[in-house]
Amino acid sequence: MRLPDHVTICEVGTRDGFQIEPEFIPTEQKVEVVDRLSEAGVPRIEVTSFVHPKAVPQLRDAEAVMAAIRRRPGTRYAALVPNDKGAARAVDAGVDAIHTVVSASESHNLANVNMTIAESIEKLRAVAQIAGRAGVPVQCGVSTSFGCPFEGEVPVAQLESVVARLVDLGARGIGLADTTGMANPRQVSDVLERLLPRFPGIEWTLHTHDTRAMAIPNILTALACGVTNFDASIGGLGGCPFAPGASGNVCSEDLVHCLHAMGVQTGIDLTKLIAVSRRVEQIIGRALPGQVMKAGPSTRRYPVPDTVASRLQAG
Ligand code: COA
Ligand code: ZN
Repeated sequence: MRLPDHVTICEVGTRDGFQIEPEFIPTEQKVEVVDRLSEAGVPRIEVTSFVHPKAVPQLRDAEAVMAAIRRRPGTRYAALVPNDKGAARAVDAGVDAIHTVVSASESHNLANVNMTIAESIEKLRAVAQIAGRAGVPVQCGVSTSFGCPFEGEVPVAQLESVVARLVDLGARGIGLADTTGMANPRQVSDVLERLLPRFPGIEWTLHTHDTRAMAIPNILTALACGVTNFDASIGGLGGCPFAPGASGNVCSEDLVHCLHAMGVQTGIDLTKLIAVSRRVEQIIGRALPGQVMKAGPSTRRYPVPDTVASRLQAG
């Protein structure tokens, strides 16, 4: 298996994860989670989103969170924005990068941001101008890249056309999002083999949801195709409030564990990351789907039972 030496993980739990939590999480607890992620060495964090507070009430404290986090040199602090108003707020709040959102399917885009795809692209042009003036890089995420919960299959040509318009308006990075976990490894490979050569110089990110337990297989497939940036969510938190059936992202510590076990570095301290996951379980008051936090890393060893030990000694 050919693997890169290093991959870059972007933690999205405090945005994609927290956004669906019904009980408001106090600002200081959101800040604590971001700070602990920074201390664990996470290189990129999508801290929050600058969207309409009525659309996502949980993240209405975006400015306050950005103002209170402790910035670790080496971590890039980004936020999700859907339009120019969000971009202006994000730039004022001092984000290091802007992550935008548009869907590859019309119905999901209308449900998510109340705009057609064409209207969204016009807004994102304005976002790119605001970000450009502030010297902030823009990474454009494309929701429902591998399937839509309303429309089903999303033709690759349709995805390609959205990506082409985003690249035209100046996106440096493109994030392909499997919003409701519909992608499978063969499809991921087909899509990447078509898109990567078509848009040279773009930094690609795969954003997965583990709705159908295919997130890590999809990530391994993308790795084999040359993608080295992956979004993940602490404990496997997450889901889109405007996509029925959406559940959590790939679990950050499970992904980091998998990569480290294969000798692929992330710069993240797994033990500290698992501790953050446990803290998030306390904050939201329920267990998270992450598996390594329950099983421990594969290096964990148990005492040999006495009966087995005596037979081993007997030779
Ligand atoms: N932040 C705060 N307020 C915003 C805003 C933003 N990013 N964008 C627009 N608004 C305000 C406008 O200023 C306007 O305010 P006013 O009524 O006081 O004049 C009002 O919202 C309506 O503006 P409009 O452009 O018509 O927005 P809309 O009601 O059609 O909503 C979005 C569009 C994109 C703002 C909204 O659907 C949204 O925030 N969606 C977020 C979706 C999301 O986060 N999904 C999960 C992540 S994938
Ligand atoms: Zn998502």
